[in-house]
Amino acid sequence: MENIKAYVQEHKDRFINELIELLKIPSVSADTAYSHDVFATADAVKASLEKAGCDFVEICDTPGYPIVYGEKIIDPNLPTVLVYGHYDVQPPDPVELWTSPPFEPVIKKTEIHPEGAIFARGACDDKGQMYMHVKALEYMVQSNTLPCNVKFMIEGEEEIGSKSLSWFVERNQEKLKNDVILISDTGMISNQQPSITTGLRGLSYVEVEVTGPNRDLHSGLYGGAVANPINVLAKMIASLHDENNHITIPGFYDNVEELSLEERAEMAKAPFNLENYKKAIDLNDVYGEKGYVTNERNSIRPTLDVNGIWGGYTGEGAKTVIASKAFAKISMRLVPNQDWEQITELFTKHFTSIAPAGVTVLVKPHHGGQGYVTPIDSIGYKAANMAYTETFGVPAIPVRSGGSIPIVALFEKELKSKTILMGFGLDSDAIHSPNEHFGIFNYLKGIETIPLFYKYFVELTK
Ligand code: BES
Ligand code: MN
Ligand code: MN
Repeated sequence: MENIKAYVQEHKDRFINELIELLKIPSVSADTAYSHDVFATADAVKASLEKAGCDFVEICDTPGYPIVYGEKIIDPNLPTVLVYGHYDVQPPDPVELWTSPPFEPVIKKTEIHPEGAIFARGACDDKGQMYMHVKALEYMVQSNTLPCNVKFMIEGEEEIGSKSLSWFVERNQEKLKNDVILISDTGMISNQQPSITTGLRGLSYVEVEVTGPNRDLHSGLYGGAVANPINVLAKMIASLHDENNHITIPGFYDNVEELSLEERAEMAKAPFNLENYKKAIDLNDVYGEKGYVTNERNSIRPTLDVNGIWGGYTGEGAKTVIASKAFAKISMRLVPNQDWEQITELFTKHFTSIAPAGVTVLVKPHHGGQGYVTPIDSIGYKAANMAYTETFGVPAIPVRSGGSIPIVALFEKELKSKTILMGFGLDSDAIHSPNEHFGIFNYLKGIETIPLFYKYFVELTK
């Protein structure tokens, strides 16, 4: 394995250039205007897996965007690692806030990435992190060190709820059979302190529509005498949290797992600096649920957030109008044991029940998924920790993340295997934001670390 460092050094320019080519294709799954590019990206991923040494690669058509499946089976008696990743990306908007165009990748130095970072939509989430696995395979094949079987399943709808992947997994249990699922689509604490994600939050995403009068009205002629849907929506949303920032939906917390004081004390050991946290996002203070600290609020506690709100006149100047309708998109991040479909029902029931006379309310569920927690005494976790310890010089810290990869809970249910979340991104990499980037250090370190996971996983399985 000593050779992986040398191999990365020798080939790093090519590794970077290959990723840059992949990042140039705008595979935005949310916007059908990019549909052609999403399909083209699947083809590019397929070609890269073939080149890296998979024996068999195919584009699997689904009702939505295709799934790229690849494999290299060296011996059916050896363990199998299933690598999952996604080749779709978030929409780049607001494009005017990017310092360079989102699909024209460039390398720039930052304070956190003095050796440079690739700036492009998808650089970290998830093309860059997914491609580390392709290059790690290339190394293991070239050096004849692949110690087990490997399967790749790279999807194109993660950012819009992984509908087709659920469809695919349910129909291909045998094909996807594995001993461990390996994903790099999360982050770590810092470039000096690796961490392994042991939990993901679940998600319930809904859209609400409040309707008042049958047309937009003159706000002088009718103002004060009819319910204004925007006023009402704002009031309804405000009532969803109490003065302690607890969520007020009846039953919302019923299944929330309360961590013991010991577990919370363990969590508090992870390095965290509140002043730096605030400074990085220009805040004068943090905000959240009473009784919990920042690192708990964003990981082990459920949330309810408005992601977008609109209605009425928002153009230039003033228009005196009471809108007929008001809308909002709301996400609830859930913790283990909260069932996303049940929470969606509770929300719908509560939100319609608090609507005052004079408006009607419609709740449209979008998508969701269950949360996930994984133990730290599994072979997979141990192997990942050994790999990080070797490449970073310090052991990894287990961390529960606030983000969601809903498909992970489904993998466990359908494929009966555990997922190891070996992320190499940083919170400051601006995923989903303008100027997303991925450190060159992180990219190359990922390529170096992944083959060690294979090595230790197979050793520990014996
Ligand atoms: N890779 C992210 C999730 C993530 C990022 C988890 C960092 C932990 C740390 C993923 O692509 C994502 O954005 N997921 C969505 C959910 C999905 C259903 C749209 C999310 O968390 O908002
Ligand atoms: Mn992702
Ligand atoms: Mn994402």
